[in-house]
Amino acid sequence: MSKIQKIRGFQDIYGENAKKYRYVVDTARKIFEKYNFEEIILPFVEDVSLFKRSVGEATDIVQKEMYVFEDRGGRTIALRPEGTASAVRAYIEEGMYAKGGYKKLFYEGAMFRYERPQAGRYRQFHQIGAEIFGVDTPMADAELIKMVKEILDELRIDVRLEINSLGSFEDRKEYINHLKQFLETKKENLCETCQTRIETNPLRVLDCKVEQCKEETKDAPVITDYLSEKSLERYTKLKEYLKALDIEFTENPRLVRGLDYYTDTVFEFITDKIGAQGTVAAGGRYDKLVSQLGGPETPALGFAAGVERLMLLVETLPEEKPLVVVIPVVSDYNIQALKSSNLLRSKDIKTETLLKEGSLKSKMKLANKLNAKFVVFVSDKYELKYMDTGEQEIFENIEDLVDVLNEKI
Ligand code: HAM
Repeated sequence: MSKIQKIRGFQDIYGENAKKYRYVVDTARKIFEKYNFEEIILPFVEDVSLFKRSVGEATDIVQKEMYVFEDRGGRTIALRPEGTASAVRAYIEEGMYAKGGYKKLFYEGAMFRYERPQAGRYRQFHQIGAEIFGVDTPMADAELIKMVKEILDELRIDVRLEINSLGSFEDRKEYINHLKQFLETKKENLCETCQTRIETNPLRVLDCKVEQCKEETKDAPVITDYLSEKSLERYTKLKEYLKALDIEFTENPRLVRGLDYYTDTVFEFITDKIGAQGTVAAGGRYDKLVSQLGGPETPALGFAAGVERLMLLVETLPEEKPLVVVIPVVSDYNIQALKSSNLLRSKDIKTETLLKEGSLKSKMKLANKLNAKFVVFVSDKYELKYMDTGEQEIFENIEDLVDVLNEKI
């Protein structure tokens, strides 16, 4: 019979990778909590119009990457391609804007985008992300970036930070007009996708990966020349704060991001170590999104990081708890072995009972394979074996053995 395989772009995360996954997510969670963010567990599916109205009709995500289908009730729903839209929807729907509107949320979980799979890019991937609602100070931008940096530092991941300001939607309208005029003069020489982007999404031409497009747009006008005084002031303050926090950054006036909701600050943490998909964490401000989705005017900002990309960069995992394997020497001692394991676990010791039947030799072989640091042989006495030195100690009762083990672990 033919075997069923997983769907292209989807992954089983197991073994060492599952440990890395957990390490990345737990580290982020610890830091989110330290910064006093609250967790929100968001649904995997949403009404498709949520993403159209937030991420943007003209974006790649909405145009060609969403998993959209009709459910049995005839609703058109989408697997979430990102978390911000859902967080904003929840913020409005659950009335979190009450009491001044200030709220700090974090989330983790699977996202879905029908992209071309390659190293660091999957159709189901996982994000950790955080959103801050109800503050418009550049202090908030700086502290958010600091928090992301802290997560990356804690994971010992070396990245560079790029920042930009996209200004307000009004600033951008004027800029886009000038950019379009410029791009029209280069149209012939741009790739096919960029030729259509001039009309649909001209900003995206600036981060096209095709060499020829990069070359042709080298002298394109930059958004930072079109910022209003207010936006410029925010951007200047942000840079001042980042310097004060010892966070290195480079300004990249071509950094535009692939989602339409951003205003003012945008940033990306990038590495060159994992190929073309080098952005590991990214985000920015989206001061108009809450009102665009029917909520009260509320400034907001956030970020998300790709867990799989972080996993590719994690080199060492924290040391694991040593394993104790409990072996009944013959089946007459099975009950005693089960009880011994219970006692060990009640003391928080990682314990595996050897459950398979077989010779003592085959049981020892399995204990070795499981990477046991200690083995406890159960018979009419208890024998503790140190696997690294081969030394053994005999105990009349299990309590004494546990005391000794507790000291060694
Ligand atoms: P994004 O840049 O679309 O932003 O995604 C954030 C991160 O998710 C990327 O930097 C990358 O690490 C990871 N990622 C995206 N697509 C894939 C994929 N196909 N495979 C693997 N990893 C991927 C957002 O999603 C915004 N919601 C971020 C944000 C939050 N902005 C404000 N608040």
